[in-house]
Amino acid sequence: MTAQSQEEMDFGAEGERMQKRTVGGGLLITFEGGEGVGKSTQAERLFNKLQTFGIDAIHAQEPGSSDLGNNVRRWIKRANSSSPLAETLLFEAARAQLMFETIRPALDAGKVVVLDRYTDSTLAYQGYARGGDLQTIGQLNNIATAGLTPHLTVLLDLDPKVSLARVSNKPDLFGGDTGPGNTRVDDESQRRFEEQPLKFHQNIRNGYLELSKRDPRWCVIKADQAGHRIADAILKRVRRLLIEREIPESIFKS
Ligand code: TYD
Repeated sequence: MTAQSQEEMDFGAEGERMQKRTVGGGLLITFEGGEGVGKSTQAERLFNKLQTFGIDAIHAQEPGSSDLGNNVRRWIKRANSSSPLAETLLFEAARAQLMFETIRPALDAGKVVVLDRYTDSTLAYQGYARGGDLQTIGQLNNIATAGLTPHLTVLLDLDPKVSLARVSNKPDLFGGDTGPGNTRVDDESQRRFEEQPLKFHQNIRNGYLELSKRDPRWCVIKADQAGHRIADAILKRVRRLLIEREIPESIFKS
């Protein structure tokens, strides 16, 4: 007997109401952007909204959301001299683990996966900004994910002059628990990428913008708007994707 039908037996009609809606094949929604653009806040906001609609969703972040990922996160924030390739391989190792442990099983179970950073981060940071070979990174991305492309990638775009000012004004950039398994493990002394020169961040932004022109999965949103406007724009796209996958429109009215 499946866990679902056991629940129905235990709770009858109430149990049926409690069941979360799933999507055939799952849905992968990734959030991308430079430092301080508000990406993590928006990813969490979307995840919370999906939950209130009764949609079965999970929220994860890269690097992180696994033991290996948290260790890579700690290491990457401390190390100063790693090659772009070494860095790429570390991010890919963490990614492969997250795919195996969390993302693949969630998608196979029909869940919506809200993922804070994914393969495009490696292209933008280790490729466009650190000068790693884009083709090699693309190949490594494919290996780590078995070629899994997001259904939607939200790019929060902001001039780094503005976003970096936001970061430096934040007393606890990495503080707090962003969800189950998502506890951030770094501290202020480890802000390696944030402390790079402006040019580095401009290269990240330009890299993302270039990537976004290549594929309709991208939704580019200007991040200098009010948070609720950004959230509405994201939700509009996500609703469309869910309705296309036979989630009834009526559930979004709640
Ligand atoms: P994080 O605290 O997650 O920063 P943010 O809140 O901006 O996502 O730190 C992760 C850092 O790792 C961030 O600077 C981006 C970087 N990164 C890469 O350089 N390559 C990658 O493939 C990934 C996933 C992250």
